[in-house]
Amino acid sequence: MEVHIAFVFLLLVSCFATASYAHNVSLSALNQSLVVSTSTTAGQVLTAGVDQITITWAYNTNLTATAPDTNYTTVEAKLCYAPVSQTGQDDRKTDDNLDLDKTCPFVITDGPYQRSDNSFIWTIPKDTPNATYFVRVYALDADDDQIGYGQSTNGLKTSNLFQIDGTVNDQKGSAWSLIGNSFGYRYAWLLMLFLA
Ligand SMILES: *[C@@H]1O[C@H](CO)[C@@H](O)[C@H](O)[C@H]1NC(C)=O
Ligand SMILES: *[C@@H]1O[C@H](CO)[C@@H](O)[C@H](O)[C@H]1NC(C)=O
Ligand SMILES: *[C@@H]1O[C@H](CO)[C@@H](O)[C@H](O)[C@H]1NC(C)=O
Ligand SMILES: *[C@@H]1O[C@H](CO)[C@@H](O)[C@H](O)[C@H]1NC(C)=O
Ligand SMILES: *[C@@H]1O[C@H](CO)[C@@H](O)[C@H](O)[C@H]1NC(C)=O
Repeated sequence: MEVHIAFVFLLLVSCFATASYAHNVSLSALNQSLVVSTSTTAGQVLTAGVDQITITWAYNTNLTATAPDTNYTTVEAKLCYAPVSQTGQDDRKTDDNLDLDKTCPFVITDGPYQRSDNSFIWTIPKDTPNATYFVRVYALDADDDQIGYGQSTNGLKTSNLFQIDGTVNDQKGSAWSLIGNSFGYRYAWLLMLFLA
């Protein structure tokens, strides 16, 4: 029983700690210092659970003098809703404050920062909602604050978009994919596995 109480406590603490830590970073204050591209062609329709996307990114070395990557520690690549799939959907709303932003709810991958030669082959999870997307990669510092980014589309988020056909999964699963992909809950799952 004690183990169970300790477990629930730890779970609560870990969720609370993740949820309550506000970074207060504005996207508009960040430099677009990463060059990001996807293997998709504009308007391509990919099937959730079947198709793969290759995501590549690198530091824009033209910025070495003005926006150096000295403090870049890790990167996080995320799948983001294009404006066309955000209209009328409050749960996908863009906010300049990244603590409140809901544009990019799905983590594709994360790992240590490296200047160049980054490539990740992603199999689109089958619970991905049917929508139009782009990819954004954040550079994080040692405090896990975003300090730079890049995205596979233009500033208006209208170019190089791709669609994911997730219609088979639209009734259920999208809420779970949100939870399953958030950093805090992944941590909680790991903890649960560890304790089991
Ligand atoms: C968040 O950042 C804004 C603008 O940089 C600042 O005005 C505000 O006080 C900050 N809020 C917190 C809680 O740090
Ligand atoms: C870096 O600068 C060169 C020369 O101006 C330019 O051709 C190149 O496109 C720039 N690279 C990026 C990623 O902006
Ligand atoms: C962004 O670039 C500007 C110069 O263009 C620089 O002054 C600033 O420090 C950079 N910000 C970050 C977080 O690297
Ligand atoms: C890196 O972080 C240190 C400590 O927070 C800070 O003093 C320095 O200005 C940062 N360097 C850059 C290039 O942002
Ligand atoms: C799936 O998403 C695409 C792109 O956002 C949209 O054009 C299409 O109508 C959607 N299909 C269904 C069945 O919702």
